[in-house]
Amino acid sequence: DVAEKGGYPDFMLKEIHEQPRVIRDTLAGRLVNGRLEIDELGMSPEELDLIDRVYVIACGTSYHAGLVAKELIEGWARIPTEVEAASEFRYRNPIITPTTLVVAVSQSGETADTLAAIRDARVKGARVFGITNVLGSPVARESDGVIYTKANKEIAVASTKSFLGQIVSLTLLALLLAQAKGKLKMNQIRLLFRELADTAEQVEWILAHADEVNEAARACAEARSALFVGRGMGAAIAREGALKLKEISYLHAEAYPAGEMKHGPIALIDEGFPVIVVATKSPVYDKTVSNMQESKARGATIIAIATEGDEDIKAHADHVIYIPKVRDAFSAITASVPLQLLARTIAVMRGCDVDQPRNLAKSVTVE
Ligand code: G6P
Repeated sequence: DVAEKGGYPDFMLKEIHEQPRVIRDTLAGRLVNGRLEIDELGMSPEELDLIDRVYVIACGTSYHAGLVAKELIEGWARIPTEVEAASEFRYRNPIITPTTLVVAVSQSGETADTLAAIRDARVKGARVFGITNVLGSPVARESDGVIYTKANKEIAVASTKSFLGQIVSLTLLALLLAQAKGKLKMNQIRLLFRELADTAEQVEWILAHADEVNEAARACAEARSALFVGRGMGAAIAREGALKLKEISYLHAEAYPAGEMKHGPIALIDEGFPVIVVATKSPVYDKTVSNMQESKARGATIIAIATEGDEDIKAHADHVIYIPKVRDAFSAITASVPLQLLARTIAVMRGCDVDQPRNLAKSVTVE
């Protein structure tokens, strides 16, 4: 057991530390003569160019990777993109035409709702791409094309390295669509690809400089509830941060877009209530800082995930966990890591079994 965990106390921590490798492996061989290539998708650039609507369907953590994908596909390829829980999508009557692309994201490749949604979408005439971690899994077999996330086997029930692999794969897909539609120039794609590859080293840096996570975790370990907020990409990541925490620590956690706080969640805040804020430098940074001030004024204990070098943020937060500066489009990759570590550390402090949380299964193969 100890050997399998590679010297780490649990699989979750081991898997968190594997993430730089996952990023590198997922990107390996994708840039060929300066062009992005994902042959396994089985669609020509001309066919990709025709896509005019995207649905990302998934469950759990994979759904949150979809939220990140929406930002990227709409931002770069300018294709309207919706993200839906597979369990909702399969019972609705979504608008599907032959130029609709459905992207099914599933670590295990065998989640019942995701599979049912794939079948339904294909019957309705959509093209389906699968993004999965398991070779030859049902999602891989039943999709028209597939991207593998190269996370290797994930043992901890709460997904970490697969999530990063999904984000990286979806980022490649967004770039590929932008390339096919001519929305990004080749030199822009090359630059973005290089920066994407650099996130592997940035995640290594985060893992090596994570001391503040312990202090921040101590501030939450006794709490009954916690709020995660952010804007834009930060809102998507806040949702995954809250899910991770509740899955393994049984602490109630919810996530909100920071701008929505005054429409409800701010009523929860009293002395010492933990608010975890994704406050990295982005076009909405100042707005997020105002939300921090409003929370602080009501007694919240604030934990900020912030960009290295941002000294000003210390005035508004009780704990600051710094991560390297990256383009906003890639901030989901870097900002997720301290939130994974935070959830795990809190769970350990609360005496929980982080690898095998109660009532949860690694894959949900029945409805
Ligand atoms: C379960 C797991 C989660 C996972 C979700 C979707 O709830 O505990 O970690 O995100 O299923 O699984 P999938 O394999 O489809 O990504």
